[in-house]
Amino acid sequence: MKKELEQMRPLAANGNGTEHHCEWRATCEVVETQARALANVLEASSDAVVSSDLNRTLTGWNVGAHRLFGYGFEETVGKAEDILWVDASMVGDDFQRVISSGEPAVNIETRCRHASGRLIDVLVTRTAIKDRAGSVVGSCLYIKDIMAYRRMRRIAQQAEKMSAVGKMAAALAHEIRNPLNSMNLHIVLMERALLKFAAMDGSFKESIGVIREEVTRLELLVREFLEYARPVELHFEPSDVGALIDEVISLGFAPSDGKVRVERYVEPESMTVVLDRNRMKQALINLVRNAVEAMPGGGTIGVSAVRKDGELLVEVKDSGVGISEDARAHIFDLFFTTKESGTGLGLPIVMQLVELHGGTIEVESEEKVGTTVRVRLPAV
Ligand SMILES: Nc1ncnc2c1ncn2[C@@H]1O[C@H](COP(=O)(O)OP(=O)(O)O)[C@@H](O)[C@H]1O
Ligand SMILES: [Mg+2]
Repeated sequence: MKKELEQMRPLAANGNGTEHHCEWRATCEVVETQARALANVLEASSDAVVSSDLNRTLTGWNVGAHRLFGYGFEETVGKAEDILWVDASMVGDDFQRVISSGEPAVNIETRCRHASGRLIDVLVTRTAIKDRAGSVVGSCLYIKDIMAYRRMRRIAQQAEKMSAVGKMAAALAHEIRNPLNSMNLHIVLMERALLKFAAMDGSFKESIGVIREEVTRLELLVREFLEYARPVELHFEPSDVGALIDEVISLGFAPSDGKVRVERYVEPESMTVVLDRNRMKQALINLVRNAVEAMPGGGTIGVSAVRKDGELLVEVKDSGVGISEDARAHIFDLFFTTKESGTGLGLPIVMQLVELHGGTIEVESEEKVGTTVRVRLPAV
């Protein structure tokens, strides 16, 4: 930069040339210091700052970009910008607009792909880079990871929901549990008594069946609600992941799920990760139950656990009905269910536990094709 500016210095053709020279030198130094300060700010920014030329070939890559994408400078500069995006066409439209108008495109919400394959929701602002004559020669991208922000916002919303009204609801649920247990017991006694007196004709039998089903449903609702609303105290312990997955598989399936095939994959087979074993087991069972319930006509469920780069990735994959675009935004909401006898508490419980473990959860789904739920946990 300094060299370039000095070359631009006007030739001291006459008179007091030395004076001119000194002034110019001082200006150069100020500009150079400012440029260096600016470069340092960009370089050290925790957000990704990336530049590309008119062909959308990457030309610049800061430390924030390395952190966000998992790729270093050498692996990306010179490559097509499209490698960063999940939907390159959308980002491409903004690029054209910025290049032709010179105006910035601000806060575009999109998704990019980390080197590990993980998808990251980001906010992108693209500004034009212009040369001295004002012609656009490329663009600069400021990319902000908004996953953490979203997570925090959801936790804050949930905390709000769990304030006074939430506590009252938890107390109420607790009170409902005891009479329900007693009702369950008395249904069994009634059934026996009626059988004894041969008074159990078809309609009685049916009515008792309905009562029993409804009570079971209420019990599940109350149990899951308490599971969610109770202050969670985790008991972390080194846990054998392979054995945990085996238990999840054996407890997650009912004999009536006959037409469902299970594929299990654990890598490495013998590994120990510190987690709250019982809670995590319950969370994974919830995922397996959802997978089974998404395949009323049968299908295949893949349950896998892979440890890599200090992370445990647990995947539950089904070939079921999938999740519609509309439902997608709500599946982690309390009481959101599309099932006749659902509680809408399964996924909120999973989310809560995964977050308490310092992990993340991601759902990928295509209607009529299937759903994959990925849980990532720090593997210590
Ligand atoms: N594997 C899956 N396949 C399809 N839809 C799913 C899957 N997992 C969750 N869902 C959707 O998310 C909703 C919420 O799930 P959940 O919180 O477990 O509650 P519930 O299972 O009681 O309905 C379900 O009703 C369903 O619409
Ligand atoms: Mg469920």
